[in-house]
Amino acid sequence: MAKVLVVGGGGREHAIVDALSRSAKVTKIYCAPGNAGIGLQAENVAIKDTDVDGLLAFAKGNAIDLTVVGPEAALAVGIVDAFRGAGLKIFGHTKAATRIESSKEFAKELMFKYDIPTSGYRSFTDYTEALEYVKARPFPAVLKYDGLAAGKGVVIAATLEEADAALKDMLLDCSFGQGKVVVEDFLTGPEFSFMCFVDGGRVYPMPLAQDHKRAYDGDEGPNTGGMGAYTNLPFISEEDRKFAFDNILCRTAEAMVAEGCPLSGVLYGGLMKTPQGIKVIEFNARFGDPETEVVLPSLESDIYDIFEGVASGKAVAQPAWNDNVTLGVVLASKGYPGKYEKGCVIEGLENVEGRIFHMGTAIRDGVTVTNGGRVMMVVCGGSDVADARGKVYREVEKIHCDNLFYRHDIAHCALDE
Ligand code: AMP
Ligand code: GLY
Repeated sequence: MAKVLVVGGGGREHAIVDALSRSAKVTKIYCAPGNAGIGLQAENVAIKDTDVDGLLAFAKGNAIDLTVVGPEAALAVGIVDAFRGAGLKIFGHTKAATRIESSKEFAKELMFKYDIPTSGYRSFTDYTEALEYVKARPFPAVLKYDGLAAGKGVVIAATLEEADAALKDMLLDCSFGQGKVVVEDFLTGPEFSFMCFVDGGRVYPMPLAQDHKRAYDGDEGPNTGGMGAYTNLPFISEEDRKFAFDNILCRTAEAMVAEGCPLSGVLYGGLMKTPQGIKVIEFNARFGDPETEVVLPSLESDIYDIFEGVASGKAVAQPAWNDNVTLGVVLASKGYPGKYEKGCVIEGLENVEGRIFHMGTAIRDGVTVTNGGRVMMVVCGGSDVADARGKVYREVEKIHCDNLFYRHDIAHCALDE
């Protein structure tokens, strides 16, 4: 019987807590810092996700058997190294292994060294050299800041003026800190997310999912943290999936072992099916958000066994997944990803059938109110994509709030719209 601490407080962590609450082995779940929705299924603890000392003291003081880390920021500051150093069991990668996400250059060098398919690139620290290189190449130019930049470190510049402004921002003004820029070849094709549980060379695949990064219908508007996701992607064949599993996910796991920084957590491949084959756009060292909210509801195995096995370095049974298609729509505050109001009352949640994963909510005088850009995600399962989508949008209509918007076309790629 186990006590588990989940680190983080978004929709992804709500989905992790939800999956853990179905475990026969888990008796108590804490979540730091958690959120209003998570608080209905776990005990929220007011400690920031990057406060490693605070989290370590809490885990020791409360005899936590296993800690599960959601966000990359906590991994990148070395929470796993600190917990392991103190003899505590934790699911997540070491700081050295997290470089697969936290450094674009590290990831690119690894992919080239081990023949993992990705776009060509060069990295620069000097603004003038970077600009000369970009000038001599076709547009659009893909510019990536070499470090964690809260999803804002990638610029796809259509013109030289845009590229110049981005390079100035990243290399002269150092908006994200002192750094390097990776300039990549521009690829085209549908994108998809392939997440696996990884323990050294052991790789356990999850169902594929697709995110929707733009704010508005028709993939228009600014980039966001993700406005909806679904599983079962008809444009990715079993052959494609197997190619990606063998040549990208497994090869990367083996490469990290060979480099002396084995993975032990989730490896997220952000992949693109280009006319030249499947290639890596980015790696993340953690569960994707909002992909986790549609993937974990299909898990039939006990998630505690998987987390505990990976955290202990012992082999686990292949996770079992049901065949349901799962689809989720994010309700976001009007104005997001720009400025938005907080504290707007949300009504009708009690009428919703399906799962509601909270992202940015709070309870005020017993009433649920908005408290973030992405506010919540409504998730339903169905027999196919159209069925799941019909259900989700019927449920979303039951939620009333003056200050929320959502996309109406989640899964349009799967439905040929
Ligand atoms: P990233 O944070 O690296 O996933 O980049 C954010 C988004 O930029 C991706 O989801 C893609 O839509 C786009 N992108 C990144 N790299 C490339 C590339 N090499 N070619 C085309 N689009 C890209
Ligand atoms: N859904 C994209 C991410 O988690 O980074």
